[in-house]
Amino acid sequence: MTDPKFNDTPNIDAPSIDPPTTDPEPKPFVVEFASRVNRLPPYMFGRINNSLYQKRRAGDDVIDLGMGNPSDPPDQVVIDKLNTAAMDPNNHGYSKSNGITNLRRELAKKYDRKYGVSLDHEHEIIACLGSKEGFSHMCLALMGPGDTAMIPSPYFPVHMYGVILASGNVVSLDVADPDKFLRNVAYTCENMEPRPKVLIVNYPHNPSSAVVEPDFFVDVVRLAKKYGFLVIHDFAYADVAFDGYQPPSFLSAPGAKDVGVEFTTMSKGYNMAGWRVGFCAGNAEMVRGLGTIKGYYDYGMFQAIQIAAIVALRETEENVLKQSLIYQGRRDVLVSGLRRLGWQLESPKAGMFVWAQIPEPWRSSMSTMEFGMKLLEEGNVAVSPGSGFGAAGEGYLRMSLVENEQRLRQAVRQIAKCLAPTAVSS
Ligand SMILES: Cc1ncc(COP(=O)(O)O)c(C=O)c1O
Repeated sequence: MTDPKFNDTPNIDAPSIDPPTTDPEPKPFVVEFASRVNRLPPYMFGRINNSLYQKRRAGDDVIDLGMGNPSDPPDQVVIDKLNTAAMDPNNHGYSKSNGITNLRRELAKKYDRKYGVSLDHEHEIIACLGSKEGFSHMCLALMGPGDTAMIPSPYFPVHMYGVILASGNVVSLDVADPDKFLRNVAYTCENMEPRPKVLIVNYPHNPSSAVVEPDFFVDVVRLAKKYGFLVIHDFAYADVAFDGYQPPSFLSAPGAKDVGVEFTTMSKGYNMAGWRVGFCAGNAEMVRGLGTIKGYYDYGMFQAIQIAAIVALRETEENVLKQSLIYQGRRDVLVSGLRRLGWQLESPKAGMFVWAQIPEPWRSSMSTMEFGMKLLEEGNVAVSPGSGFGAAGEGYLRMSLVENEQRLRQAVRQIAKCLAPTAVSS
């Protein structure tokens, strides 16, 4: 029998369509979304973003520590290459959906240079339209109804909703202490039936900035082999680290390629967020699965961007290091400023964020969202309320390091003023 879902040769003789009638009271035309869309909650940062937009329109100078959207430009050599590549008429057609060979080859060289990981650029690397696109389509390639992914908690939204959109289920595990995270992974696998299919990891972690040492991934691979789950490591903050700390690559753990892949991006360290250049590397079969989905959904990145990205990978490593130092300086300003106000927070070793617990009395007296709105409405400082990253984020704020040091000092002053006893609204 033919599967009706795939019946692409309808050989039916349809009756003629009824002539149009004039309905005296036409019913409203209802657009019903698929159930996967109805599983998505309202966008948590919508309220903050709307208010930020209104304030800026009204002429207020809001210091925006909300999104991790780099404000510095890429190296000039990369912009120049984009210009020349855009002038070449050969670069304007559809490109390869998995990325041009030289771009994948350049990423393989970076992995070899930086992590001592050897990758076959033909089968073990695919370029994505930003790592978020690749990540969500990887979820679609691996997950379906009845499948479960273990994800970090609090979570970067796509780690949760990429799985939900693929009709999967999630179990979220506290990310702050890596040993506890691994114990929880093992416990979940021992006690869940059927066992989880995928483990999603993300270190340096967004939003909490938690980091791990290389041994962590050795244990991840061991558990993956023991319990038979696949691993997706989101390594978006690979290139942004401080005080000599080097975030480890999952792929440098022995046997990692047997069980999983790693996503990297040029959005953060290379200041190319709007360019949408990311990569998935590792297990050839998982890379192939992602390539299959992408082959149906997209025609690849604008080729001029891919050519400029090659130059960025090949020639601007020094600039990437300088950019980390810039974030490190901003981190110091923000952390010391908030500590002077009496906030208790850890100084992050990597990533683009400070994850700060809201001090008392506000933590007990208002929600994280209300506190974020207060800082925005009364202090002209926009932040991301922790609850936007799931219930585990309640009581915390995420502040990104995208404004310069002078603006961060000003942000601390404005926060102090807005929280001063006389300013507390009754
Ligand atoms: C943890 C994490 N993963 C992925 C992304 C998305 O990166 P891209 O710009 O490559 O899609 C971000 C961006 O904020 C992120 O924080």
